[in-house]
Amino acid sequence: MPSLFEPVQAGDLHLANRIAMAPLTRNRAPDAIPTPLMATYYTQRASAGLLITEATAISPQGQGYADVPGLYGTEQLDGWKRVTSAVHAEGGKIVVQLWHVGRVSHTDLQPGNAAPVAPSAIRAHTKTVLLKDGVPTFTDTSMPRALDLGELPGIVQDYRHAARNAIACGFDGVEIHAANGYLLDQFLKTGANERTDDYGGSIKNRARLTLEVVRAIVDEIGGGRTGIRLSPVTPANDIVDENPQQLFDYLLAQLAPLGLAYVHIIEGATGGARELADRPFDYAALKAVYRKAGGKGAWMVNNAYDRALADAAVAAGADIVAFGRPFIANPDLVARLEKNAPLNEPDRATFYGGGAAGYIDYPTLY
Ligand SMILES: Cc1cc2nc3c(=O)[nH]c(=O)nc-3n(C[C@H](O)[C@H](O)[C@H](O)COP(=O)(O)O)c2cc1C
Repeated sequence: MPSLFEPVQAGDLHLANRIAMAPLTRNRAPDAIPTPLMATYYTQRASAGLLITEATAISPQGQGYADVPGLYGTEQLDGWKRVTSAVHAEGGKIVVQLWHVGRVSHTDLQPGNAAPVAPSAIRAHTKTVLLKDGVPTFTDTSMPRALDLGELPGIVQDYRHAARNAIACGFDGVEIHAANGYLLDQFLKTGANERTDDYGGSIKNRARLTLEVVRAIVDEIGGGRTGIRLSPVTPANDIVDENPQQLFDYLLAQLAPLGLAYVHIIEGATGGARELADRPFDYAALKAVYRKAGGKGAWMVNNAYDRALADAAVAAGADIVAFGRPFIANPDLVARLEKNAPLNEPDRATFYGGGAAGYIDYPTLY
């Protein structure tokens, strides 16, 4: 039986171990430009089998929080090149998480102070982060407007373009963010999608945009460098679906032939309970659907894992376990897990925004 600390292949990516750093927004990229501090932060964590970057906006419209990075524009791309080369010099592997927030944004963050865009004009009852006098401040999201049918090809194009930029920046691949109530998840789920055209209504229609994005990116950079993140039942950012099992079984069957490097599943409520009484879900059945349909991508799991839970998941057939908060506080998490050493506790006060404190100053074992 493989252990967490053995190598694994995920599409074209050969990973030194089965531990991934989950994507973690840290709001430390003014003007959406990755900084030298970010290069240090990721390099410190390069012993992970795979680093998944913080969510990164594919376009200015896809932006929904203060000081998150982008994957468009020369300065943004130059900033990311410094990150990828530093990580590679340390022997790490790094993919970038491609993000369009959809309705989880604020007019202050949108080009021309426009309304955020969404499948339907339904406001998300959730907060975003603005900077007020330099201080990160949680603020209600703005009322979105429904995207016109004619705008959707442009959004698919933005994803494709961002994937091309990712490879030009030296990333080993991309992770499509289709989780946590952002644009693709909004299209997928009934709670945010009341469209009556080809992108709303039936499961097939609601899955259409996500599948178009995946296919465009696979066409652009190859499936072996493409992963996808999904959160079937998370309530994050005010999202819900009336029949998630059927929805995700359909989606995974469609993804199976596309040759993805990995499928990344958040089990339960992101950062919260792994089991939700009012939102039951059978993850083993989902995986079985994917494998039965020929899906060969690595199966990555996430949410509230510790060493014991991760060992059990790998024993049960998971290929990769992603850790989020533990990686914030433990740059040498892989070594600590291997030695069963105690973990540093993350400081929530420095999660979103700020400088080096609570970012690159967590101590290592040695
Ligand atoms: C500070 C913070 C930022 C996060 N940013 C992202 C993000 O950019 N993209 C994403 O998909 N999930 C994001 N998440 C969710 C984590 O990737 C992960 O799913 C969650 O923390 C549960 O895993 P854990 O229990 O190992 O921390 C974030 C979580 C935290 C705590």
